[in-house]
Amino acid sequence: MIDRRRIITLAGAAGATSLAAPFVRPSWAQANTLKVGLLLPYSGTYAPLGEAINRAMELYVKQQGGKLAGREIVFAKVDDESEPAKATENTTKLISGEKVDILTGTVHSGVAMAMAKMAKEDGLPTLITNAGVEAITRGACAPNIFRTSFGNSQVGEATGLAMLKAGVKNVVTVTWKYAAGEESVAGFKKSFTAGGGKIIKDITLPFPDVEFQSILAEVGSLKPDAVYSFFAGGGALKFIKDYAGAKLNEKIPLWGPGFLTDGVEKAAGPAGDGVKTALHYVESLDNPENKKFAADFSAAYGKAPDVYAVQGWDAMQLLRIGLEAAGGDTKKRPEMFAAMSKASFPSPRGPFKLGTSHNPIQNFYLRELRGGENKYLGIAAEMLADDTTGCKLA
Ligand code: PHB
Repeated sequence: MIDRRRIITLAGAAGATSLAAPFVRPSWAQANTLKVGLLLPYSGTYAPLGEAINRAMELYVKQQGGKLAGREIVFAKVDDESEPAKATENTTKLISGEKVDILTGTVHSGVAMAMAKMAKEDGLPTLITNAGVEAITRGACAPNIFRTSFGNSQVGEATGLAMLKAGVKNVVTVTWKYAAGEESVAGFKKSFTAGGGKIIKDITLPFPDVEFQSILAEVGSLKPDAVYSFFAGGGALKFIKDYAGAKLNEKIPLWGPGFLTDGVEKAAGPAGDGVKTALHYVESLDNPENKKFAADFSAAYGKAPDVYAVQGWDAMQLLRIGLEAAGGDTKKRPEMFAAMSKASFPSPRGPFKLGTSHNPIQNFYLRELRGGENKYLGIAAEMLADDTTGCKLA
């Protein structure tokens, strides 16, 4: 494998030559390098999620000797701060500034909407590594956009099924008021009310606020059987701790999509004991792909992987499949996208395949946080697909 210093030297030499001869062809190093753009939150409440995705992507490429389909992979990174107002500018930094060959990211649904709009216009091969905003794989779907994570309502729906099965009847929902929280709650309500469950009240607060005291007081007075809540990252940790601090955990079980506990298992401490969630991953999943992935990730970073890491890992698996079908040439987009659309491979999460709108069809697992670990309790929903309303690709 060619080392980094040699690449810099080659690039430098090409630059020097081009001064004398403007139409010189790119050096071997430039031609062979494939630039993968990462639009992720490297700061703010979702920073740990961005870090996990980034780490798994780098680990995957490292294990492939730094190359996919013979192309040397380099990463270009932009911190999107989970700030929708800056999303177009930040995506432009990758598309026009860095001239990336592949676009990946991000975590926040509002940022992802702007990113996907630009990606759709540009046609650049794009992998969504977390954000679950429904439009991306419904009305705003595109041949060049693939999601390796989930749809927001897909996870909510699976959690609703698990709560019904557990005998929960009356629920208060609590979430951030933006696409992810709202769509998550809508998906939950779809399955939960279809099975006879009742919603007592929906409570929201703006993203990324974490002033939960008055909300928790209201939940206590409403006395539901359980709370359904979508939070993630730093906000999820604060919610779990405040919930226990208000002693609600002793009488009203806390439920939610697994984003509530992923990545914050250890930090939650005893406050997290008993939080039940459904998600498309649990660290202890017993399959060979996960055993190796969890061991390698822990060895590399001194921390167990979470769902975000798996989504980054699978984005690289999917990209590799696409690139190999195109002989490493990202200009061969029809070949690349056809292979990615029909890809099916063993993921650490279990079997992975995409539906017609390029959103994963996958298992959802019931988990319970205990002693700093999400324990596997069983299947919440088997190979559940998200709604594809408004998307016509197939
Ligand atoms: C989203 O904004 O779509 C989102 C963010 C964090 C999560 C899940 C979904 O954990």
